[in-house]
Amino acid sequence: MRAVISLKSIPTLIALTLPLHAVEPRVTYDNLPLGSIERPLVLRSYLPEPGIDPAVFAQHDTASKVAKYNPDIGRDVAGEIKPIPGLVAAVGVNFGPALSYVFDTTECRLLYAWQGGFVDMTPYWGDQQRGSRQSFDYVPRLVGTLFWKASGKDPIEVDGKSISEIGARTYVGYRLEKGVPVFEYRVGEVPFTISVRPSSVPLSCEVRLTSSSDRKLTWRGIPGEGKGKLVFNLTGSELAKFQGYEHAKKITKASVNAGEMLFNQYGCAACHSIDGSKSHGPSVGKLAGSKVEIEGQDKPVVADKSYLLESIKSPNAKLVKGYPPNYMPPFTLRDVEYESLVLYIQSLENPE
Ligand code: HEC
Repeated sequence: MRAVISLKSIPTLIALTLPLHAVEPRVTYDNLPLGSIERPLVLRSYLPEPGIDPAVFAQHDTASKVAKYNPDIGRDVAGEIKPIPGLVAAVGVNFGPALSYVFDTTECRLLYAWQGGFVDMTPYWGDQQRGSRQSFDYVPRLVGTLFWKASGKDPIEVDGKSISEIGARTYVGYRLEKGVPVFEYRVGEVPFTISVRPSSVPLSCEVRLTSSSDRKLTWRGIPGEGKGKLVFNLTGSELAKFQGYEHAKKITKASVNAGEMLFNQYGCAACHSIDGSKSHGPSVGKLAGSKVEIEGQDKPVVADKSYLLESIKSPNAKLVKGYPPNYMPPFTLRDVEYESLVLYIQSLENPE
C-alpha cells in the first residue's frame, strides 16, 4: 500500500507528502491515497479546480509567455506554456473520508472542501497495467462530496474589511500541530494562520484562524468574532459529487472479478473491509444473505441482491444501525458495474 522510501529516489515532487518541518517524509504511490483523522495526509501536487469563481484568483498571474530553461542553450528562453487544467501552487489535505480540503498558497486562502474520499491519482500514476499507458495527466480527479468552495473576496475580515482589500497576501509555509497542518501567511505585514479540521457535523469542517493584530476578526457570513483568534464551524451544502477517474469503461459483462476491481478502484475498500472487521463502514465480508439491523426499523432486513444494490445506489435509504447518514457517497454507475459489485459482495459470503 503506502510505501515509505528514500527521497533521493524520487525524481519529482508529485505526491510527496512532505511538510516544511518534516520528521518522517512519506511518499505514496497509491492511486487513492487516504490519510486519517489521527494522521492527515498532505499532498503537494496539481489539484483539480472544481469550478471556482475566477474572482478568487486575484493574486494569480494569467498564463502567458514565460521564460523556461533550455538545457541545449544553457539559459532561459522565452516560450509559450501550455496551461495545465489544475491548480498549481495548492496543497491538498486529507483526514480520511471525514474531510479533505485544498489551500491555495498563491491566494493564501481555503479554496474548497469535500468529504467521502480524497483524490484519484490514476491519471498520474496509471492503473494496474502501468506498463501500457495510453495517456498521462498531472491532475488527479476528485473523489467525494464537495460541500464548500471559495467565492469573491477573501471571507476573512479585519474590522469588517476583507483581507483581500487590506494588502497582498504572502505565503510563509506551514507547520504541523499534532500532524495537522497550520498554514502561515502575511497580509501586508500582519501574520495570519489558518487550520482546518474535521467536525462532527456532516458537510462541515472546523476552521481556526489567528492573526497577530488584536483588531476584530470575522469570517463573512458567520456569526461570531474574535480578537487575534477565531474558531468556528464552516457548514456547507452538497455542491457536487465526484467519483474519481473513469476506470470501468472496459467492463462489458458483470463478473466477480470486475466487481473486485471496482471495489478497489472506486475506493469502497477505503471504508469497507472484507474480513469482518469494522472500518468507516460495516464489513461486506459475509454480508450477503445475512440479517442487517437498520436505523429506525424494528425488524432486520436480509441483505439480498436488491438490498445490496440499494445500499450502493442510495446509501441513505436504509442506514445500517450505528453508522451516520451522508457518509457513504452514492455511486452513480453503469448497470454492469452495480451488478459486478453485488456479485463480488455475494462471492464474499463463502470465500473460496
Ligand atoms: C466514505 C466511506 C464509504 C465509501 C467510500 C463506501 N461506503 Fe459503503 N457504507 C459506508 C457506511 C458508513 C455505510 C453504513 C451506512 C449506510 O448504510 O449507508 C455503508 C454501507 C454500505 C453497504 C451496506 C452494508 C451493510 O452492512 O448492510 C454496502 C453494501 C456498501 N456500503 C457498499 C459499498 C460499495 C460497493 C462502495 C463502493 C462503490 C462503498 N460502499 C463505498 C461507507 C462507505
